[in-house]
Amino acid sequence: MNLKPLLFTAVLAAFPAFADEGSRLDDARQVANSLPPKLLQVLIEEIGKGGPENAISVCRERAPLMAKAVSEKTGWAIRRVSLRARNAKAVPDAWEKAGLEEFDQRLAAGAAAAGIEKFEVVAEGGQSVFRYMKALPTQDVCLVCHGTPARMTPAVTTKLRELYPDDKATGYEADQIRGAISLKRPL
Ligand code: HEC
Repeated sequence: MNLKPLLFTAVLAAFPAFADEGSRLDDARQVANSLPPKLLQVLIEEIGKGGPENAISVCRERAPLMAKAVSEKTGWAIRRVSLRARNAKAVPDAWEKAGLEEFDQRLAAGAAAAGIEKFEVVAEGGQSVFRYMKALPTQDVCLVCHGTPARMTPAVTTKLRELYPDDKATGYEADQIRGAISLKRPL
């Protein structure tokens, strides 16, 4: 007889906080895995319809709206962060910054960008908060707006310069880490 499931159940029953943490992790992963592909689909559609300069609004307006809708549905605070942020709102906090630096090190050490994640229960304002983040790797399609100047059309460069005079989010190649989706929720 395999006792492993029984043992696991016993451990969860003895430590409810641990069980809670496990379900939070499953939940966070589900949200972090479902949002980026939906956004990517809309991006590709809009680029197809009106070129990359037309799709800038997808990353600028639709992405936060989509995150807000999922946030309201699930209770997770959701945002995107980057060590080289385009929007100042995406500048990471201390936990996210340490995570993003660790992600780059793990990538350099040979980990596949798409699987890199981190989670931790932290104390924030006297409360236990479950934090989760997952790397957002660059794919070829990202480079029309986040790549080297050679990859970007003059129309995109001009529009980005207008909207984000302090833009730090260009110069990427494929398979780097553009940033992360970051989630948190009280435990
Ligand atoms: C059509 C242009 C365009 C494409 C293509 C694009 N982005 Fe962006 N991206 C933007 C813009 C514009 C912003 C700033 C959005 C804002 O103001 O919040 C942004 C912001 C981000 C951010 C938030 C952090 C920051 O720097 O502000 C991440 C992460 C990100 N993009 C990842 C990606 C990834 C990964 C891809 C490819 C799957 C991608 N983007 C494709 C235009 C684009």
